[in-house]
Order: sequence, then structure tokens, then C-alpha cells
Amino acid sequence: SLPCDLYAAGGTPCVAAHSTTRALYSAYNGPLYQVKRASDGATRDIGVLSTGGYADAAAQDAFCARTSCLITVIYDQSGRGNHLTQAPPGGFNGPAAGGYDNLAEASAAPVTVGGHKAYGVFIAPGTGYRNNNTHGIATGDQPEGMYAVLDGSHYNGGCCFDYGNAETSGLDTGNGHMEAIYFGNIKVWGYGTGNGPWVMADLENGLFSGVNAGYNANDPSVSHRFLTAVVKGGPNQWAIRAGNAQSGGLSTYYSGPRPNVSGYNPMKKEGAIILGIGGDNSNGSAGTFYEGVMTSGYPSDATENAVQANIDAAGYTAPAPAGGLTVGSKVSLRATTSCCTNDFLRHNSADSNAVIAPVTSSSPAADKAAATWTVRAGLGDASCVSFESADRPGQYLRHYDYRLRVDSNDGSALFRQDATFCPQAGHNGQGVSLRSANYPSDFVRHFDYNAYIAGDGGSHDWDSATAWADDTSWAVASPWA
Ligand code: AHR
Repeated sequence: SLPCDLYAAGGTPCVAAHSTTRALYSAYNGPLYQVKRASDGATRDIGVLSTGGYADAAAQDAFCARTSCLITVIYDQSGRGNHLTQAPPGGFNGPAAGGYDNLAEASAAPVTVGGHKAYGVFIAPGTGYRNNNTHGIATGDQPEGMYAVLDGSHYNGGCCFDYGNAETSGLDTGNGHMEAIYFGNIKVWGYGTGNGPWVMADLENGLFSGVNAGYNANDPSVSHRFLTAVVKGGPNQWAIRAGNAQSGGLSTYYSGPRPNVSGYNPMKKEGAIILGIGGDNSNGSAGTFYEGVMTSGYPSDATENAVQANIDAAGYTAPAPAGGLTVGSKVSLRATTSCCTNDFLRHNSADSNAVIAPVTSSSPAADKAAATWTVRAGLGDASCVSFESADRPGQYLRHYDYRLRVDSNDGSALFRQDATFCPQAGHNGQGVSLRSANYPSDFVRHFDYNAYIAGDGGSHDWDSATAWADDTSWAVASPWA
């Protein structure tokens, strides 16, 4: 049985079921999510490989070949039509047109589930999904449960990476108007032991780690690569539970009465659904979502334990990094566009800007060294990479104003993000494409012999759709130095 079969058997059926990786009912045979590609704006539903099975990620790869795709819809498998789409403006505007939030890049969170390739929903700051017109989701003080499987290594301290129940207006309408899973290390409201990240409940105007506003000693920092997070709530009773989504059970971090501050008993849930944002469309948060549900009724621990056993059995694993970029090795990166197949990514000698230029075996040693990079674990995300200059130790390839250059690591979080690139199969079928960790629509690109991070079509010259797939594909070559 799959998670929603188990919740139904427990008498607390799913009223929303979202996943980009697999069916959550053994009888589900519909679409999981919809993608939209940058090249022509066309959309395509991505379904399951078999009834009750895993996502057909190959369909996404084929549809999105040579371009990039966004996740436009995350379908509700419960039959209640509680689909998630691009979040509209609320108390805060998002960065996209009309104050909407951004949509997630469809290939930014590759994962293996049960041996099958799939993709999660990668929430960079500014990204968010919402449904303000739901059916069957708890309102007022009605009981509900929810779980989500998340990437425990992808989080930040912005408000608020949530999945669950929120205001239908997108506005902060007061304490008790939300009940959602939160994951991250913001310490503005509640927190637990260690430095985070923590699983907490976003109950509006407060992330709660237990009965107290602020610190609760039973809410530990949790960093499983795959994390199951659970929140449930009913009349003057709620709980936080979590565990490793790859093995073992759930631990209960809190179970008891509503917070000992006013406004949360009774609850005033409104029944909208959010993903990746706060109730008021705060959108500074980061995280990755693979699957999650909301139920009608307060699930028993036994039901949730059975769901956790199924999540373990689903077999979430991290995919091998793409493209032969072994940490510690030296590489040179050769352009694959037909103009430029003798050109390599290098830094200038006079300034620090990155360009492409020819290198041959008879080039001066200084030119060879400037076109050689030591692959390091990503400074901002260890599952990605950073490129340290071979001849300028301590300096890394980073973007600044979208231009690529080398700079010394100043130790800031911004630098670490700017210098981190996530490799995936090359957009033109050759080598690798290198996604910017903090601008996930943008990839390392050469344009007019200069190097940038660039999207497939966009506001800058260097986002030109012409030859984007080729210009963003790099052959990983033997190091020149
Ligand atoms: O409760 C924490 C956050 O506070 C909510 O997500 C948001 O609506 C408000 O800013």
C-alpha cells in the first residue's frame, strides 16, 4: 500500500496528495506534474511509468531537451482538485510578473527513487506554489495531518519553507490561521537544539518547535539527506514528528496542547495550501520537496509509522553527480559550440574576468594554468561543485552581476552560493551543463567570448536563446596544467 492507501485505511484519508516522484495511491494512474519549456512555452504533463508507480522522468528529459523547463502544476492525486500552481502575490510580492512567485526549475533536484530517475521541486528563494481555493482541507479547528519528504541538506534561514495549510488571502490574518510543516534554520520564532535546521509547525506569526514560543529542548537539528517531516493538529492537540526517509521510523519531537501563547487555541485554519513560502507569501526560503500529503482527520501515530515504512521502501537515494567532475581532480572545460571547440574557460591575466580562448599544447604555461580548475566540493552545496583556479589558489570561479570571474573566497554565504555550480548532463548532449546554485534558471555560458550565467531566453543579451544549449554545454577535458 502507498501513503494515501494507508491514511485511508487508518480513517484519515488524504485530501491532497502531491509528488513529482511517484504515485501516492496504488490505483493512481494520472499526471504527477506539468512542465513548461523555455524554448516555445509548450507544456507537458508528466505521469507515472505504471499504475501506482514512479514518475516518468524520461518524458521530462525528452520534452525539455536542449532547453530548460519549469514546473507549472503539481497535481493533486486525491481527486479533490487541490493542485498547486504558481503562488500569487499576498502580503509580499514575489519576483515574477504581477508579483507572482517564481516557478521551480524542473531539473534542479534530480533524485533516484526505487532505482528510477525522478525530479523533486527545487525551491530557490522567490519560488512558491499555492492553492487558495481548495476542497476538503481542514478549516477552523478541524483536525488534519500532513507529511512531506524533503532534502534535509537544502534549507536556509529565510521565511518560510512550508508545506501545508495557510490563509486563502495570501495575507497574514493572525495567529492560528496556518498549520504547515516548516523546515529550515530561521531562528526568528521557534527553534530547538543545535544550529538547525529544524522541523517546526508554522501556525502563523510563529514557527513552533513545541509548546513554548522560542526554544524547546525536544526539537533536534535534523539533517538527513532525505527527511520525512510530519505535523498534525486538532482541538488543543498537535504534534511534530520526523525521521530519516531512507530507513528507520519516526521520532516524536512534540505531542501535546497548543502553544502557551494566545491565539492558537482554537485554531482558525483557512484551508489554502502552500509550498515553499509563508502564509503571507514571504518568499525568502529555500528547500526541496519530493512528496507530501494533507489528510482529513488527525492520523494515528501507527498510521504515520506505516506511511514512513512505505517511504523507506520507496527507496530514495541521491543520484551520482553528473559528468566526471571528481572532487579533487583538475579539469579544463572546453566549449562545445561549433565556433569554439578549441576554446577553454579561463580567467584573464590582466583582470579577473572569465572568458573562453584557445589553448593548445604549445600555449604558454600561464595560459594553460589560467584554463585549469581544481574541482572542489561545492562551497554552498556539497552535492554540487566549485572550481578553484589552478594558478590562483584560494580564488574560485563565481558570478558577479551575472558575469563569471575569479575571486578570493571571502567566507560569506553569498560568495559560497555565487561560486557553486550543480553539474547535469550537457544541454546539447555533450559534457556537462553547470547550473548556478543560487540562480537555478542560469547556467555557465559563453557569449561573445565572455562567460556568464545565463538562462534560455531572458532579459540580458547573454540570455539569448540562440545556441543556448551549445553555449551552456562544456566538455570536461584533461587539465592543461
Ligand atoms: O509564522 C511565520 C510566518 O509569519 C508566516 O509564514 C507568515 O505568514 C508570517 O510572516
